Amino acid sequence: MYKLVHLEIVTAVQPDRPPASSGLPDSEVLVVACFEGEQPAADALPEDVRRTVENAVAKRAFSGREKQCVEASGVGTPVSAVAVHGLGKRTELDARKMAAWCDRVVESLRTNDVERAVIALPDCPETRGPASAERICRRLSLAGYRFDQYREEARTSPVRLREIALVPPPGESDLYREMLGVGRAVARGVAFTRDLANSPANVADPEWMEQRARELARDAGMEVTVVGPDELEERGMGGILAVGKGSSRPPRLVRLAWGQEGPTVALVGKGVTFDTGGISLKPPARLDEMKYDKSGACTVLGIGRAVADLALPIRLRIYLPLAENMPDGAAYRPGDIIRCYGGRSIEIMNTDAEGRLLLADAMALAAEEQPDALLELSTLTGACVVALGHHGAGLYSPDDELADGLLAAASDGGERLWRLPLWKEFVEEMQGTHADLKNTGGRWGGANLAAAFLSQFVGELDRWAHLDIAGPAQIPKENNGSQGATGYGVALIVHWLRSLVS
Ligand code: BES
Ligand code: MN
Ligand code: ZN
Repeated sequence: MYKLVHLEIVTAVQPDRPPASSGLPDSEVLVVACFEGEQPAADALPEDVRRTVENAVAKRAFSGREKQCVEASGVGTPVSAVAVHGLGKRTELDARKMAAWCDRVVESLRTNDVERAVIALPDCPETRGPASAERICRRLSLAGYRFDQYREEARTSPVRLREIALVPPPGESDLYREMLGVGRAVARGVAFTRDLANSPANVADPEWMEQRARELARDAGMEVTVVGPDELEERGMGGILAVGKGSSRPPRLVRLAWGQEGPTVALVGKGVTFDTGGISLKPPARLDEMKYDKSGACTVLGIGRAVADLALPIRLRIYLPLAENMPDGAAYRPGDIIRCYGGRSIEIMNTDAEGRLLLADAMALAAEEQPDALLELSTLTGACVVALGHHGAGLYSPDDELADGLLAAASDGGERLWRLPLWKEFVEEMQGTHADLKNTGGRWGGANLAAAFLSQFVGELDRWAHLDIAGPAQIPKENNGSQGATGYGVALIVHWLRSLVS
């Protein structure tokens, strides 16, 4: 289980007082930023400390370039050492570079087995305002995250970093204290999502996911309904059933309901606990990564946790279609014709285009409740990863206002989102030969084709959006000290939900 770093906001450091009485807390390391070509950003710190910091960089070739770092002993200050980390040119700083700076600082604190640190933030647009404060608090809270429960290392060398005292830019302390609550709630949601999504498919099967959802519901006071295999059959949810047929681990649809007042928002998350491709078997390269095919479901659970922590006045309805896509004697095959919830028939062209089938059932059910908005998150297509890499998700929505709101929330949350088209030609391409629809189209525009398919399962609802998170849900390289699931989307959607009710 994850642990968050305890973060404290230092209210008022008195620069005119001697270090001991200045309000600067005792710690092992004081971290200060430095813009390229400037003096370290230590204005808010006591005179003696400032001198120590300036001495650390004096007579060194240090210029404040990105990734540069110098350390010095902190004699005469309440800190054992000071570390100055370069932030690059002031004019080139953006949210992404600020986040990368936080990550570098954290990385060096971890490498050096530091337990308690003070981080003095520089004064710049990227550290001011509520969104910046939330992003920084979240990033630093997550500094201790590691998915190590299956490693010896977890016992022999646990993450030491425990406490960070944060010195906000002048005048921003109250705001930071307020946004710390939001940042921590989002961080908890992200860490929860990452733990779930990183869990391997031999453990994290549909039943296990249901149990995790039930635990969340119990902790957060949510209502749970589970549609098991028999009832899926009765209710005509042929998509979830078809995808799950080849697995010995039965599929299901889990629904969580939170809140009794405010706008109703339905969240649907793809929960394919492992995607072999089924009879249309995937090639072996990087097949292990298909344990992340449940990321959408994990993300909406993380969002649920954050929403409950923040007690947002909304009605949240969470839908998790859960299944494992395996090849087997009982598996569904290409050529099969199935019926999804609501009665549409679908001709299976490729059993690896399974996500859209189980999402069709879940989205059609969610749309029946006439929510004020329906958001669906899924690791839906490799094509979207080809288009956007691991940097951001694809956004599809027929509603400009909803799309703009989500793009703004993504920017506030520091997550990249890029709108892609829902052109009617893509829907035409998905018409079936022997059924109403088929589950794949031609070779081009695969992410758009998948989105067009989903657009057929929201009834009359206009305020819906599909986020293809196949790229950013998981990154193959280091991310806050651990590779794998990123928890992408939790911050974005929580920012959007907060904007709905503020
Ligand atoms: N889960 C995959 C999409 C995926 C691919 C996610 C790579 C993350 C990384 C999805 O179920 C899938 O297999 N999609 C197919 C659709 C195709 C058969 C039309 C794809 O993208 O290749
Ligand atoms: Mn697939
Ligand atoms: Zn899949």
